Amino acid sequence: MNNNDQPTQDFYKENPRLTTHDKRERLAAFQVQAIQKHIGDLTNKVFLDIGAGDIVLGEKLDQIGTPQKFFAHDLSEKSIDAGLGRLKSTGINTGIFHKSVSDCFDFRVIQDQEVDAAFSNSLFSHLSIDLITVCLRNLSPKMKNGSSYFSSMIILPDNTEKSSYDWSYIDSPFAQHSSYANKNPFHYTKNTLENLGANDIGFKFKHIHEYGHPFQKLVEFCCIKN
Ligand SMILES: C[S@@+](CC[C@H](N)C(=O)[O-])C[C@H]1O[C@@H](n2cnc3c(N)ncnc32)[C@H](O)[C@@H]1O
Repeated sequence: MNNNDQPTQDFYKENPRLTTHDKRERLAAFQVQAIQKHIGDLTNKVFLDIGAGDIVLGEKLDQIGTPQKFFAHDLSEKSIDAGLGRLKSTGINTGIFHKSVSDCFDFRVIQDQEVDAAFSNSLFSHLSIDLITVCLRNLSPKMKNGSSYFSSMIILPDNTEKSSYDWSYIDSPFAQHSSYANKNPFHYTKNTLENLGANDIGFKFKHIHEYGHPFQKLVEFCCIKN
């Protein structure tokens, strides 16, 4: 870990993300609400969770709907396998889950224009702007035209770029001490997101939604095919 106790990508490669029951419940509460509100029922849809870790949404299909396919993408195969093992052990049909493993957003296991909706919880706080661009550019061909990718991320409150931002004024167990422009955990501004579209990445920044988290927001990117 770095000195902010925020796991980096390299950390996740060596230490696959594994959650406890209580942590899963806590994390899934944000995620289920967001999916219900912004994506709707996933029944028979093709859903992609990017940075899925050990698939905390796996036990929540009764609340979000059972997709036709649930792609779990992460850099750690061990993390996804642990999730699949856990789900299997609780009797959940894991036949709908499909693994996608890459640390540079290679989505080759997914067919072009197959995905109805994509989602990430706390992935972009680990990614530089260049890696976010790679993620969006590689994801775009896999999404249906007009579909959305919802990704939670740290957004600065006043739309002004800062090298670091101290969140300790927020009284929350989720509040880390600081976020940064140049290192993990990364923060971004609305202005930066608005200008991402200029790079022809196949997505348009659409909206910053509330996420029920003290400083992460849920950013909606809409897939626009040229
Ligand atoms: C904070 S965890 C969130 C995990 C999961 N979304 C959850 O809510 O429990 C971030 C996840 O992103 C994954 N990750 C980080 N960088 C990645 C990258 N470049 N490509 C794919 N996954 C990545 C990590 O392995 C980890 O599982």
